[in-house]
Amino acid sequence: MSRATNFPKLSRSLSICFLLLITINAQAQRAKSSHQQGLKDAYKKYFPIGVAVALRNLHGDEAQLIKTQFNSITAENAMKMAAIQPKEGVFYWKDADSIISFAVKNGIKVRGHNLCWHEQTPDWIFKGADGKAVTKTVLLQRLKTHITRVVNRYKGKIYAWDVVNEAIDDNPNHFLRDSKWYQICGEDFIAKAFEYAHAADPVAKLYYNDYNTERPEKREQIYRLLKSLKDKGVPVDGVGFQAHWSLQEPDESALRSAIERYSSLGLKIQITELDLSIYPWEISKRMKRPDESDVFTAELENRQVAKYAMVFKVFREYKNVITNVTFWNISDRYSWLNEFPVMGRKNYPLLFDRNLQPKKAYWEVINFKNQ
Ligand code: XIL
Repeated sequence: MSRATNFPKLSRSLSICFLLLITINAQAQRAKSSHQQGLKDAYKKYFPIGVAVALRNLHGDEAQLIKTQFNSITAENAMKMAAIQPKEGVFYWKDADSIISFAVKNGIKVRGHNLCWHEQTPDWIFKGADGKAVTKTVLLQRLKTHITRVVNRYKGKIYAWDVVNEAIDDNPNHFLRDSKWYQICGEDFIAKAFEYAHAADPVAKLYYNDYNTERPEKREQIYRLLKSLKDKGVPVDGVGFQAHWSLQEPDESALRSAIERYSSLGLKIQITELDLSIYPWEISKRMKRPDESDVFTAELENRQVAKYAMVFKVFREYKNVITNVTFWNISDRYSWLNEFPVMGRKNYPLLFDRNLQPKKAYWEVINFKNQ
């Protein structure tokens, strides 16, 4: 065959190749963009979606998932008082700094957790050189030094802080928890912690953070505390619902009532530590019983799907007061609930499974009609 007769054939083949290339490229682009769409994109018009992280999560497949799905992070442990200032005047910044630089590098916001708590707090802070309890003046001075140093260091990088964590007692007959903070300072330590944080960074939003914020008795105690802080002019911006929830609670009306109650004080709400345990709520530590099953059955999964759908429906409805929703851990590969409160009992509380694949609940959370 001559060159001339071959030409149309060649040109047809070339066009087909070209078309094929365009199609493949378009498909690749689509795959890439749908891969980059995550929770953070679905909730763009609502609130940032966060996750609690440890240093080990910041490389490999977990880091990739964080970047795709979330636009806010919280240090799971690295910013707590015992981690940051294990001895008086000895500050350990390395882990917290690494978390901040990961966030800055990837354009992710950071919530600070936390500045004053009864747990993961070093013993030295409550004791003098003689081993006895320090005075209120000394303890408040130490609290001020700690808060000032930490908040200052991350000024402009942390947009919201959990200033006081879990100060209300679980026993409804008591008001404040009988912690060392309370024993030495009375209730003043709470207002002081907010004042010190505000002085160090007047722009950061300051939160009171607690669990069971939707149980009516505890809700009223927290409301009382927040109202008294507001009445005294203490710089508190909002309340953190830890949201360590379960299939049993909260129900929709308890969740709505809590949001309405706190926001009636003009406060914002952040969901700070969300997970949905497949077991009823417990607080005392114990070992797993041999007869206890920890299998994630289809029935449990369906109930979890429904619960996640309900809570996110309510969150979206209250987008004017809810300013962040943060999950406590990334996936069921690791959750703090595998150790707490029942040692050795597996839990499946998050939206991603052990292989970091989205669970049914993920699709329920992400596929919603605009509201
Ligand atoms: C938990 C961490 O997830 C665990 O790794 C650690 O061993 C204990 O603390 N409420 C809080 C969080 O405010 O700081 C706790 O985090 C979970 C309960």
